[in-house]
Amino acid sequence: MNPLQRRRKRGVILTPQGFQKLQTAKCQAQSWENLDKRYTLEDLSDRTGLDPDTLMKVFHCQVGVDKQTLNTCFRAFNLLLEPSDYQLPRTHEVISNQHSIQNLTDWGEAPDISAFLGRTAELTTLKHWILKEHCRVVTLFGMDGMGKTSLSVKLAEQIQDKFEFVIWRSLRNAPSVKDMLADLIQILSEGQENNLPKTLDGRISQLIHYLKNARCLLILDNLETILPDASGKYNIGYYRQRYDGYSELIRRVAETFHQSCLVLTIQETPREIRHLTGEKLPVRTLQLKGLKVIEVEEIFKAKGAFCGSSSDWHQLTESYAGNPLLLNMVSSKIHKLFDGNISEFLNQRILVFGEISQLLKDYFNHLSDPENLIINWLASNYQPASFSELRSQISSAISPQQLLDALESLQERCLVDKNAALFSVAPMVREYINHQLIQNKISSNIKYRSIVTRKKNKLSFHIPELILIK
Ligand SMILES: Nc1ncnc2c1ncn2[C@@H]1O[C@H](COP(=O)(O)OP(=O)(O)OP(=O)(O)O)[C@@H](O)[C@H]1O
Ligand SMILES: [Mg+2]
Repeated sequence: MNPLQRRRKRGVILTPQGFQKLQTAKCQAQSWENLDKRYTLEDLSDRTGLDPDTLMKVFHCQVGVDKQTLNTCFRAFNLLLEPSDYQLPRTHEVISNQHSIQNLTDWGEAPDISAFLGRTAELTTLKHWILKEHCRVVTLFGMDGMGKTSLSVKLAEQIQDKFEFVIWRSLRNAPSVKDMLADLIQILSEGQENNLPKTLDGRISQLIHYLKNARCLLILDNLETILPDASGKYNIGYYRQRYDGYSELIRRVAETFHQSCLVLTIQETPREIRHLTGEKLPVRTLQLKGLKVIEVEEIFKAKGAFCGSSSDWHQLTESYAGNPLLLNMVSSKIHKLFDGNISEFLNQRILVFGEISQLLKDYFNHLSDPENLIINWLASNYQPASFSELRSQISSAISPQQLLDALESLQERCLVDKNAALFSVAPMVREYINHQLIQNKISSNIKYRSIVTRKKNKLSFHIPELILIK
């Protein structure tokens, strides 16, 4: 029998938000009414009046059920089913029924990804690493807004039935590593762990014990929150301590033998992870690059009517480095101001505006001086440049070692692109930098003129070719 079956999709499934609501209510009921013991399917069946098979479908969120079934399930936990709690199952998805296991999932504050499209190649690679090669740590990295968080949720959604536990957590609020470990251990022990070790070392050992005992998928999103910025400084002193703890956690999860997987999302891979990574090692990193033109077209079409030639779509995608966040921003402008006409928008030659400008400003605020210098030079050079050319042009300002490190980090964040050994910047980055240079020159000239007028002296004033934009 063919193990892969194409299921006919009918009915509705829970969205991550709906699932989370139900899961939270279920956990609360377990804690208040069942002495913290996990409900069995039979318990849930008694409570809801639904048969165990149907309940499995509800909690696995893969196969559609009647809306009335979801209503019944929600009511059994005193919840009201709202439209944002359910969605249509995705069509044409191939689901393997083999090795499906009943699992416990906790999606934390995972975002709703019902608008997610594409990324097929990336999902295939990630699934291969995790399910076939049993990688223990997988890191997704790339520019702000490139879709790392969304992809991590999509991935977890697609492989959840291969794990006994799936836990998705955001580090956006920089939780301490000990609190995070306590949270994970409580879930993995199903609330049975009463002796939580006091030390970090002890908690990591306990987590690893659970990662050995059961197949768990842990996702930690936004690791950059607890990282130093490019200049090596920590935003707030105590983050250093937090970061050291997470770094230790990652190292031990990567190096110890177990049957689980830790997925991380971050803007740039920390050195510690880079050192552990290898094609034959159980630690892998995947750089999330821009969306393909066809994916961008699909995302735009899901938002409304847009028109453009094939070359317009290519130019638009390339201009924003295929970044879904930036393209989302631009799509609403094109829709509102140009009636969806992409060519009209491109003819204006205004790639950077409003929120996009603010976002780029944030990126640039986190650049180190060497990174700033490189990106400025590439933007003003217009032609892609080789490493030797860059080295000869700016080596008086920074050392070759700094140049190597800075180039690698700019490339990881997709601010610099490498093609056939030549480095260049995305058009929107070029436009932003050149705009800033002009602004800086104007304000320097105004300042200069006012000094000249006041002092009525002849001053020698020099505007440098490369201005650090900060
Ligand atoms: N494949 C996709 N299809 C449709 N929309 C997407 C896709 N990927 C990302 N998006 C949208 O782009 C925006 C940014 O995505 P997301 O938050 O996942 O990026 P990120 O890389 O995690 O950003 P950050 O670095 O800020 O954490 C979101 O609004 C998301 O819905
Ligand atoms: Mg994110």
